[in-house]
Amino acid sequence: MTAIAAERLSAHRLDDVSLGKIVQIREVLLRAQAAGSRVVRFESGDPSFSVAPHVLDAIGAAAAAGKTHYIPNDGIPELRAALAAKLRDKNGIADVTNHDVFVTNGAMHALYVTFGALLGAGDEVIIPDPMWTEVADNIRLAGGRAVRVSLRAEDDYAYDAEAIERAITPQTRAIFVNTPHNPTGAVLSREQLEAIVDVARANDLWIISDEAYEDVLYEPAVHHSVASLAGDWADRVISVFSFSKSHAMSGLRVGYIVTTASTLQERIGKLLRCTINGVNSLAQWGALAAVTGPQDHLAAMREEYRGRRDALVHALRDIPGITPFVPSGAFYLWAEIDPEAYDRLGVADADGLSRSLAANGIGSAPGDAFGESCVDAIRFAFSCDTTMVRTGATLLRTALLEGV
Ligand SMILES: Cc1ncc(COP(=O)(O)O)c(C=O)c1O
Repeated sequence: MTAIAAERLSAHRLDDVSLGKIVQIREVLLRAQAAGSRVVRFESGDPSFSVAPHVLDAIGAAAAAGKTHYIPNDGIPELRAALAAKLRDKNGIADVTNHDVFVTNGAMHALYVTFGALLGAGDEVIIPDPMWTEVADNIRLAGGRAVRVSLRAEDDYAYDAEAIERAITPQTRAIFVNTPHNPTGAVLSREQLEAIVDVARANDLWIISDEAYEDVLYEPAVHHSVASLAGDWADRVISVFSFSKSHAMSGLRVGYIVTTASTLQERIGKLLRCTINGVNSLAQWGALAAVTGPQDHLAAMREEYRGRRDALVHALRDIPGITPFVPSGAFYLWAEIDPEAYDRLGVADADGLSRSLAANGIGSAPGDAFGESCVDAIRFAFSCDTTMVRTGATLLRTALLEGV
């Protein structure tokens, strides 16, 4: 841009949103891959699995039948009805109807729309730290402010209701909850979620529950939807779901928001109209087949993820200065780093470690990509294929033992 053009732009809230550290690491790996090098894609959480055949068939059939025209803004009625049934039967959220479900361009867009519909300028939302970066970015884009509550290894990264309560100010509008959690893989128990609902109720706060990883769980962990536990506070819970992780449909971009609050429903409809005017019709027909068709591939994917998790946990055991956390859900391995290990590893900090690993073809995401209280940590995603995870785990162990 020319200097004259730049001068004509006033400061903008987008200027405070970063382009993302994980994106930068990914670009290093993609360049190396394009140049023919072997790379290990531990940086991003994109499921390696193919979309189920019945989903692809449904997309093909919808295309052949000419279902390629404008569709209702909030989602095709068939999908909204099927999702309402899924939310009642599987998630235990009573009384949800198709009018309470809004189909979005993935959970990312669901968060953008939810915060946009809920927040006014200066409103605060309490979020865990570490947390997937885009949550705070979307709060900022809506004019709000993310207030961080630190999660600690000694508490198994539980999101503690008392710590949340201490972070409440007169500006607090909502508590953001994510279970299973990106980046730690922690899964909140029924009791922990009920305690968070009690805090919300006592302080007149909304809850936004991001359940993008509801199906990526390792026994004995169980997923609970906050809205199913909220009782008289259920109308104040806004739930966000995605087909990206559960059904490995990340590129098809289908997610959904669930809310029974009528004012929010009206605002969400307006934001959907002005941002997308309906999610891609064929992707929605695919999502309908995914939610109504056979579900056995979900268990098969879970089993595969469990094997990958165990391989990576095994590879990171007994490395001086590295403390991996065994995740109960999602497909990320989070490890804390003792700062004294940086010397041995030949790097200045976790960010440097992540960059050195990337230069050696191994993806990762440094702790400070997820917040302020977790700079001495690193995340490895095991959503890439099993062979890559197994080979990568060995390479990673060698790099962390011998220096990068
Ligand atoms: C916690 C969390 N929520 C939401 C999303 C967004 O997923 P999508 O937009 O693909 O549905 C992600 C993606 O990584 C995530 O980690």
